[in-house]
Amino acid sequence: MNFCQVLTLLTLGTGSLAALDGSRYLWYKQPAIEWERGALPIGNGRMGATIYGSLNEVLTINEDTIWSGPFQDRTPVNGLEALHQARELFLNGNITGGGDLVIDQMNPPAEAKSQRQFSYFGNLNIAFGHSGEVDNYVRWLDTRAGNSGVSYTYGGVNYTREYIASFPADILAARFQSNQQGGLSLNASISREANTLENVASVEDGIATLTYRGSSGQPADQGPILFSGQVRFLAVGASVTASKSTVIIKGATTIDIFIDTETSYRYPDSKDLDAEIDNKLAVAVDKGFEVVRDEALGDSTALLERASINIGESPNGLADLPTDERVRNARTNRDDIELTTLAWNLGRHMLVSSSRNTKAEIDFPANLQGVWNNKTGAPWGGKYTININTEMNYWPAMVTNLLETQEPLFDLMKLAHPRGEQMARDLYGCEGTMYHHNLDLWADTAPTDKYRSASMWPMGAAWLVQHMIEHYRYTGDRAFLENTAYPYLVDVAKFFECYTFEWEGWSITGPSLSPENIYFVPADMSSAGVGEPMDVNIAMDDQIMRDVFRALLEAADELGVSDTDADVMKAKEFITKIRPTQIGSLGQILEWRSEYTEVVKGHRHFSHLYALHPGSEFSPLNNETLAHAAGVSVDRRRDNAGGSTGWSRTWMINLYARLHRGDDAWEMAQVWFEKFVTEGLWNTDSGNTFQIDGNMGFTSGITELFLQSHAGVLHILPALPGKVIPTGQAKGLTARGNFVADIEWESGNFKSANVTSNIGADLKLRVANGLQVLIDGKAYEGTIHTQKGVQYRITTAE
Ligand SMILES: *[C@@H]1O[C@H](CO)[C@@H](O)[C@H](O)[C@H]1NC(C)=O
Ligand SMILES: *[C@@H]1O[C@H](CO)[C@@H](O)[C@H](O)[C@H]1NC(C)=O
Ligand SMILES: *[C@@H]1O[C@H](CO)[C@@H](O)[C@H](O)[C@H]1NC(C)=O
Ligand SMILES: *[C@@H]1O[C@H](CO)[C@@H](O)[C@H](O)[C@H]1NC(C)=O
Ligand SMILES: *[C@@H]1O[C@H](CO)[C@@H](O)[C@H](O)[C@H]1NC(C)=O
Ligand SMILES: *[C@@H]1O[C@H](CO)[C@@H](O)[C@H](O)[C@H]1NC(C)=O
Repeated sequence: MNFCQVLTLLTLGTGSLAALDGSRYLWYKQPAIEWERGALPIGNGRMGATIYGSLNEVLTINEDTIWSGPFQDRTPVNGLEALHQARELFLNGNITGGGDLVIDQMNPPAEAKSQRQFSYFGNLNIAFGHSGEVDNYVRWLDTRAGNSGVSYTYGGVNYTREYIASFPADILAARFQSNQQGGLSLNASISREANTLENVASVEDGIATLTYRGSSGQPADQGPILFSGQVRFLAVGASVTASKSTVIIKGATTIDIFIDTETSYRYPDSKDLDAEIDNKLAVAVDKGFEVVRDEALGDSTALLERASINIGESPNGLADLPTDERVRNARTNRDDIELTTLAWNLGRHMLVSSSRNTKAEIDFPANLQGVWNNKTGAPWGGKYTININTEMNYWPAMVTNLLETQEPLFDLMKLAHPRGEQMARDLYGCEGTMYHHNLDLWADTAPTDKYRSASMWPMGAAWLVQHMIEHYRYTGDRAFLENTAYPYLVDVAKFFECYTFEWEGWSITGPSLSPENIYFVPADMSSAGVGEPMDVNIAMDDQIMRDVFRALLEAADELGVSDTDADVMKAKEFITKIRPTQIGSLGQILEWRSEYTEVVKGHRHFSHLYALHPGSEFSPLNNETLAHAAGVSVDRRRDNAGGSTGWSRTWMINLYARLHRGDDAWEMAQVWFEKFVTEGLWNTDSGNTFQIDGNMGFTSGITELFLQSHAGVLHILPALPGKVIPTGQAKGLTARGNFVADIEWESGNFKSANVTSNIGADLKLRVANGLQVLIDGKAYEGTIHTQKGVQYRITTAE
């Protein structure tokens, strides 16, 4: 649907607003008042903007390298000495002594406690001279195309605004129109809370420009990030002037604007930076808004349209209401099925808008807020928190057919790799690479924030490298496996081969922790009764290590690496020394080396269930005993007020989907709407602060109800909540082996599916709870060798 069709739709009937498609559009009858409660996000991967839609418009603009700078070497000075001492203390039962030592000696000094922070460019403020009452007001975001708009009638004149973020042109753009000749005027300027270096308006050849230069705020001789941005205004036939830092346009009918911002991170020489902005904006002005717009939407729809879900219609016109009313309704009423479809689409839009491979040397992945933030220092620094949040951002990339949006994550790893090698050497005396629980723009791998229940965690690289092997499993891209994934796996494995130490015959980690959980130190240890997070031999560490070494061996096998290769031989040996999963007295998965009592029974992290999701070891199809124990553990968390942040609650959707418990997964999705989303359907930590991870976890969790492929089979409808969504379709979902599946179900049961084989991999199939099916009309009896490019039709065997 294009903008004109939207307007037509909105103006149907006698002046009253007709509803927009409630599965596709966020829309509102009033501007956003607060940033987190409905300002609408657009982005091209590198730049983002949030749009309030006010009569005095505000666009908050972001660029993914506007962070504080420069790189800080935060390597703890006496860390290596403390490592062995700390291990002794933990093994001797002096948990608090060990923990104190780690916090003091294995963390950076107080002055370098924290990493760098994500910031923002500034606000573009546009006054149209409109105030008071307007009629027919509506603003919207199209989650299937990526554009946004505003329209209203003021003083008898209709005004429209449309906003786009262009990946091909690498800029933001907008068009403002009035249906009265010459009826549009504006004053526009840029503002920022701090560290403005230059802020001017100018006019040349009838084109007005705002130029803004800012700094990340560190003293000039200490390497701040410097950034610059321009906004160009085209208003044919209008009066265009500039005064100080304001562009003034009078008597226009159409005003087109083009925005770019760049930083010294990518352009250390300010001449190159200015030239880059100039070139991009000149090209865009030349092409004109309509061409730029069509190219932008062509690009974004090509990605967004690859996959879709249709899980039924909401009753009683619930989906026809503006989005804020629907969200308020969903706090107490679960009937608005299409709100799930809308949030699913929004997650994909946000991923496509905040994480793109531009083929630059380094593209940055989606951070804790994607690419949207309106503070000089984003909440939690807007970092790459890799003890769950960054990984969660990429769960929908794999299952919803947006594999290339994951590639910036590998760029960040490319930056982090050598820093991680240095950290492995200096803090642990080891070869290989490792990162702790956060990375920043500089890929700083040191422990951060002196946070007792999070900082000392050596598993960041090991978790992230799973995204590389999974990328291979989905794409079958052997060049990527050979040149990227395998060398990283080898280096991560090398670290563990050196870093782990013997305990009761196992090779274990420590000091480490189970992010970010705390247990009561048991009676037979010296600080009995105290809550402590750190110990040795953490269950999650064992699970992640097993995945690293399995992945290494899988990759070596695929690549034909010889059995006598040193890395392969060491991996085969090491994997036998990882302690198996332990099951506790309640039938639960043990989170620590012994059955410690956790301080908070409903803790938000599910670290010890990593092997259920995103891992595969605890799948009911792999090991029913472990799956059952994992179920006991999730239920315990749920029954003790777990899922206490938005991302945590959406992890639960994924966990229950992996247990094939669709109704429980659906329940978690409903609680997410009740407690954790704003009027803009943004995920929050606990109702207030935006964190994008939960939006992504929601989209992947809902997808995993319909298709899973982590347990060696392409599993169709593994967890369908058939009572609430009895009939529907899910199309274009992706599975390992580079299969794309279109699935339909009816009356709570599988109906049919089409599975396209993109690379000719073997297809092992499972439908629902092991239903008998036909594949191209013949009974399915076991793995089939597919042909590349061929679609296979799966039907019920009645
Ligand atoms: C202006 O907008 C209103 C409401 O959207 C619509 O009914 C009217 O037809 C529009 N007028 C023109 C001239 O487009
Ligand atoms: C960011 O959003 C908050 C909440 O709406 C608001 O109070 C604050 O002024 C905004 N900051 C900027 C720079 O726009
Ligand atoms: C625990 O270790 C700390 C640091 O070495 C030490 O000061 C303390 O006395 C130890 N506590 C016990 C009970 O041994
Ligand atoms: C622009 O600013 C001038 C000076 O403050 C004011 O007179 C004019 O009304 C403003 N125009 C708009 C469209 O807001
Ligand atoms: C399941 O896992 C447990 C614990 O690791 C193990 O003892 C058992 O052999 C596994 N069962 C199967 C069928 O692999
Ligand atoms: C599968 O393909 C057939 C033939 O093109 C089509 O009729 C059917 O609707 C497709 N099924 C799904 C679930 O998309």
